[in-house]
Amino acid sequence: EDIGVDADDLDLGGHAHFMLKEIHEQPAAAAAVIAGRIDERFGTTRLGGLNLTPRELRAFKRVKILGCGSAYYVGQMGAQMIEDLARIPADAEAASEFRYRNPIIEADTLYIAVSQSGETADTAFAVQEVQRKGGYVLGVVNVVGSTIARAVDGGVYIHAGPEVAVASTKALTNMGIAFAMLAVQLGRVRDLSVADGKRILAGLQAIPGQIAQVLADAEPAKAIAAELIKGDSAFYIGRTRGYPVAREGAQKLKEISYIHAEAYQASELKHGPLALIDEQMPTVAIIPDDELADRNLAAGEQVLARKGPLVVIAHPGVDVSALKVPTIRVPKNEPELDPILLTIPTQVIAYYAALALGLDVDKPRNLAKSVTVE
Ligand code: AGP
Repeated sequence: EDIGVDADDLDLGGHAHFMLKEIHEQPAAAAAVIAGRIDERFGTTRLGGLNLTPRELRAFKRVKILGCGSAYYVGQMGAQMIEDLARIPADAEAASEFRYRNPIIEADTLYIAVSQSGETADTAFAVQEVQRKGGYVLGVVNVVGSTIARAVDGGVYIHAGPEVAVASTKALTNMGIAFAMLAVQLGRVRDLSVADGKRILAGLQAIPGQIAQVLADAEPAKAIAAELIKGDSAFYIGRTRGYPVAREGAQKLKEISYIHAEAYQASELKHGPLALIDEQMPTVAIIPDDELADRNLAAGEQVLARKGPLVVIAHPGVDVSALKVPTIRVPKNEPELDPILLTIPTQVIAYYAALALGLDVDKPRNLAKSVTVE
């Protein structure tokens, strides 16, 4: 199968797998998506390919993000960033569903198609459906000149470089950063202040170094992976900004370790899934240092009270000492940007789980790098 890269790129660079190589390329890839796109003076970003004037950018009343699989989950992160920073109602939907449900297309909605490969058939069809009904579509795409990149009305290339492993890592991180930059630009033509714009820009510029720090401190991921592979099922829980992180974390574990993993809003645990918690059902809790940290810690305690094994991905400011469970620390950034960094340990956990199970990390069964069939 043509994976769309040159032989030169098919070099593991000393890593055991492409997935591990791509995980470690993230600091450099993150720097590449930001480079040349920051306007310090006005506290905004300059995304050159949107093909929209500030006036046109301002006229959109809603944002709808379309993607499949992990791209859809990053789209959910992006929708929250856009709501937070630009205060425009935004949501994400699986392109694979959207295209089949005769969606209502509105002229004052900005549609965004997100895809690493730019070749995902469901996402490409969703773009056509929007355009056929007169909607404006931006692309957030990695592969230059791909089908989706050519079809859209404007867009942002994420400059992650070639991604070979079926389980996407660096492309997802760069999509998250691209959405943050788009959210700043949408915000700065509305009510986002120069000071708040600058606050987010400083946060963005810290991300490459912080990713390197997460990877340097990821040793507990091995013990956590060892915990997860004992069972055949796991929960990933988070709330609000942590929920798409949980969805992506569960997806990564499923794809390469074949362990059933389900993401749940921590707030919904007691409304049903708590019934499944026992010694055999581990939970990975995403706990950002935000106004919901106490609620998230309480959810962790509920899991422990039912003898469920618990592991935690948390910011340094969250006091997890009472839980006494394996913990990975992730540096704090601006709250709007936190999902980007919180996702990194979930990649490493999934990688070590698949490795410990002796599975084909880069080419998991039944999956293709890009799904060009319907
Ligand atoms: C990610 O790890 C998956 N392999 C998968 O969900 C992927 O994100 C999805 O198929 C979309 O691919 P795309 O970004 O190339 O459109």
